Amino acid sequence: MPNDTDTVVLASHPVRRIGFGAMQLPGPGVFGPPKDRDLALVILRRAVDAGVNHIDTAQFYGPDVANELIRQALHPYPDDLVLVSKVGAARGASGEWLGAQQPAELRAGVEANLVALGLDQIPVVNLRRHPESDVPFADQLGAMIAMREEGLIGSIGLSNVSLEQYRAAREHTQVACVQNSYSLADRSDQALFDACRHDAVPYVPFFPLGSAFHPENPVLTAPAVNETARRLDATPAQVALAWLLGQAPTVLLIPGTSSLDHLGENLAAGDLVLDHAALQALSG
Ligand SMILES: NC(=O)c1ccc[n+]([C@@H]2O[C@H](COP(=O)([O-])OP(=O)(O)OC[C@H]3O[C@@H](n4cnc5c(N)ncnc54)[C@H](OP(=O)(O)O)[C@@H]3O)[C@@H](O)[C@H]2O)c1
Repeated sequence: MPNDTDTVVLASHPVRRIGFGAMQLPGPGVFGPPKDRDLALVILRRAVDAGVNHIDTAQFYGPDVANELIRQALHPYPDDLVLVSKVGAARGASGEWLGAQQPAELRAGVEANLVALGLDQIPVVNLRRHPESDVPFADQLGAMIAMREEGLIGSIGLSNVSLEQYRAAREHTQVACVQNSYSLADRSDQALFDACRHDAVPYVPFFPLGSAFHPENPVLTAPAVNETARRLDATPAQVALAWLLGQAPTVLLIPGTSSLDHLGENLAAGDLVLDHAALQALSG
């Protein structure tokens, strides 16, 4: 049974399991304008035309580039489109990744997203915790809850959090989703992944394809992935995405791409069925 027609409820909105991550749309290093702005707009429209109704973004992708592209390509937004953003980071003048972890910075981040996306409310915003942040997690969560009560955000998600932080958050609020790094090559978040599966909380792995940051992609160059792809007449990216879909029924994918061909491949990954031999080969 293909996975691509399945939907998962994300903050009360049913969304297709394969969505789109906007991080690859800005220029190199997720900084500055795209190499081909028209192509970036086409990619966004093609994704939505193909049924994508879950797009992950951030004001600090560019900065402002991903959000402005989304707005130009898709506003007024389809009723069923769920835009998910995140707060907790900022960019320096040369593209450095900076923390923006203070409650006031989280609020400024939400406000910047609202303006750039042309929304009165962002359906879901992830609190993206910096692992070395010295700001108390409870203070950050309090800021997010206050913004939800004011109507600036619809629901609160968590990103880059530990299992302990996830559990602590759930004592104070509903958690719409968890967005942490998880892939065939990185299963370090398995305990939190399992907790989300148990709690039926959507888990949205980032770097599902091994990310664009490594010179040698740890997922797409893995021998087991490539051998499985050859045997099943699929691509390595499709194998990686199909494997993730199979890990839990509440996994939602947001692969990032700046290529129309890759977008098509990624959206078709839900049709790929991994047989027993494939799962065995990939389990290592
Ligand atoms: N919460 C967080 O802290 C956080 C961190 C990172 C990312 N994210 C979110 O997660 C999303 C996914 O992560 P990501 O974009 O960094 O990494 P990713 O999806 O693991 O990988 C993106 C890389 O894979 C390539 N790619 C995509 N589709 C491909 C295909 N079919 N065949 C071969 N290569 C392919 C892309 O190149 P091309 O452009 O050439 O296709 C790009 O180099 C992001 O877009 C972002 O929305 C969140």
